[in-house]
Amino acid sequence: MGTPLVVVQDLRKMFVHMGRELHVLRGIDLTIDQGEIVAMVGQSGAGKSTFLHCIGTLDLPTSGKISLGGEELTSLSSSKLAAIRNRMIGFVFQFHHLLPEFNALENVMMPGMIQGRSRKELEPLANSLLAEVGLAERASHRPGELSGGEQQRVALARALVLSPKLILADEPTGNLDTKTSEAMHQLFFDVNRKHGTTIVVVTHNMAFAESMPRVVRMRDGRIEADERRADQRPGASQASEPESPARAALSEDGEGTVSAVPS
Ligand SMILES: Nc1ncnc2c1ncn2[C@@H]1O[C@H](COP(=O)(O)OP(=O)(O)O)[C@@H](O)[C@H]1O
Ligand SMILES: [Mg+2]
Repeated sequence: MGTPLVVVQDLRKMFVHMGRELHVLRGIDLTIDQGEIVAMVGQSGAGKSTFLHCIGTLDLPTSGKISLGGEELTSLSSSKLAAIRNRMIGFVFQFHHLLPEFNALENVMMPGMIQGRSRKELEPLANSLLAEVGLAERASHRPGELSGGEQQRVALARALVLSPKLILADEPTGNLDTKTSEAMHQLFFDVNRKHGTTIVVVTHNMAFAESMPRVVRMRDGRIEADERRADQRPGASQASEPESPARAALSEDGEGTVSAVPS
């Protein structure tokens, strides 16, 4: 087993909507290890976004526990949560939320600028992240001068700028065509492998989910299945490739092992 990064215990979330209680998360237990890349799938309304928002400290659960890097979140003040969010988590949403009046480079630097870091320190970092997502030549373009796929790649570079331990992505390719989506999916794998960043991606793209070493399926606010499988990607098991802890753990368990946890 690897080192747990996210530990969720009996997580519940209830909304009151027009006087009625809506139980959106109904007792979720999930552990995600450092270095894992995990797909979350499930029908619309299953609670995937709510779950991501809770582990991303963007929303508070009704009950249950979430620990991130050993720190219990549910007892922390909102300013402490904001500090943890900044330090540990990068987000990629379906819509990129880039600032239209800033260029790609400035958008990538923005989380660091907000923290008061200098442009001098951030600029080389942002440039190298833009190069990593294949946009070295687009640094001076504003979002309106980029394609949808390029905008999402800028959003991914921005999510990486503070070296988060965890990236939470909510249908990041939900708005892109098939070919552009595939390139973006590959980038998630590359980031996971190169930076060791733990990644949780909500997706409706079955091919993408199927290519993941772990797929968590949600249904009606619960985890219906949690499947691990050997990495199918070309080169994934080559000795020359640095292996993520999760994949090392997988191969120790025996390649091709698939386990399903009933809800
Ligand atoms: N702020 C809210 N108030 C009331 N109901 C909400 C709120 N946010 C989400 N819901 C409801 O919770 C359910 C799960 O939503 P969501 O987590 O967005 O699902 P998914 O991302 O799997 O499609 C939906 O029925 C949705 O309408
Ligand atoms: Mg959603």
